[in-house]
Amino acid sequence: MRQKIIIGNWKMYKTMKETNDFLTEFEKKISNKSFNCQFGIAASFTNLIALKNKEVKNLIIGAQNCHDQLQGAFTGEVSVNMLEELNVSHVIIGHSERRQYFNETDESINRKLKTIFDNSKMIPILCCGETLKQYESKTTNQVIETQIKAALKDISGANVAKLVIAYEPIWAIGTGKTASVAEAQTICALIRTIVAKLYQKDIADKVRIQYGGSVKPDNIKTFLAQSDIDGALVGSASLQVTDFINLLQ
Ligand code: PGA
Repeated sequence: MRQKIIIGNWKMYKTMKETNDFLTEFEKKISNKSFNCQFGIAASFTNLIALKNKEVKNLIIGAQNCHDQLQGAFTGEVSVNMLEELNVSHVIIGHSERRQYFNETDESINRKLKTIFDNSKMIPILCCGETLKQYESKTTNQVIETQIKAALKDISGANVAKLVIAYEPIWAIGTGKTASVAEAQTICALIRTIVAKLYQKDIADKVRIQYGGSVKPDNIKTFLAQSDIDGALVGSASLQVTDFINLLQ
C-alpha cells in the first residue's frame, strides 16, 4: 500500500516572518487532528531554517531545487549537503517553472537526481508535464515518456522505488484549470507503466505519483481516489493555513 503524500510548493512566496506565522497557526490548528497521509512544505531556501527550528510534528521539510555538484564556484546555488543539514528530506526537481525560466533540461534533472541519490538520503520529487500546445496536439504521452526516461537514465531500481514523481500539466499550474480526473489518472498510470518497462513492476508499484496543477480543497479528494494517484503537489492552495489543513483532511 502506497502512503499518500501531499506537498505544498510555496514557490517564491512568504518571508521568514510569514513562514513562522503560518507554522505557529498550523501547529495550533492541527494539535487535535491526525491525517491519513504524509504532508510537507517545500519552501524557498531562506525559509528552510524556520521550518527546521519550528519542528512541527510530522511536517516534511522540502526544498524546491538543488545543484548537481556538491560544492564549487556556482554563485547563487545550494547543494544537497546544505539542504540535509537543515533537515530537508524531500526536494522538488525539474518543476516546469524551473524548466521554463531557469533553463533546466532533462539532462540537468538527471544529474541532480544522481547527485541526490549518491550523496544524501533525500527523496526527489521529480516533476513532469506537458505544455498546452503539446496537450492540444495530443503528444502528452510521448512528452511524458521522454521526460521520465531521460530523468531516470542510469538510476538504479532501488533508488527509483523511493522516488516521488509529480505529474503536472503545465497548462493547469496556477491557472485554475485542472486536468480531468480521468486524464490525470491515465497519465499517472502511464508513468507507472513506463517505470515498470524500464525497471520492474514491483519497483513501479512502489513509486508514488502525485498529481499537481490547481489542486484545491474541493477537488483533491477525487484525484486522490484514483488508483495511480498517490498524492498531490499543491501551489497556491498551500499558502493559507485553513486551505492547507482542508487539503490534508
Ligand atoms: P498550483 O501549483 O497548485 O498553484 O497550480 C502547482 C505547482 O506548481 O506545483
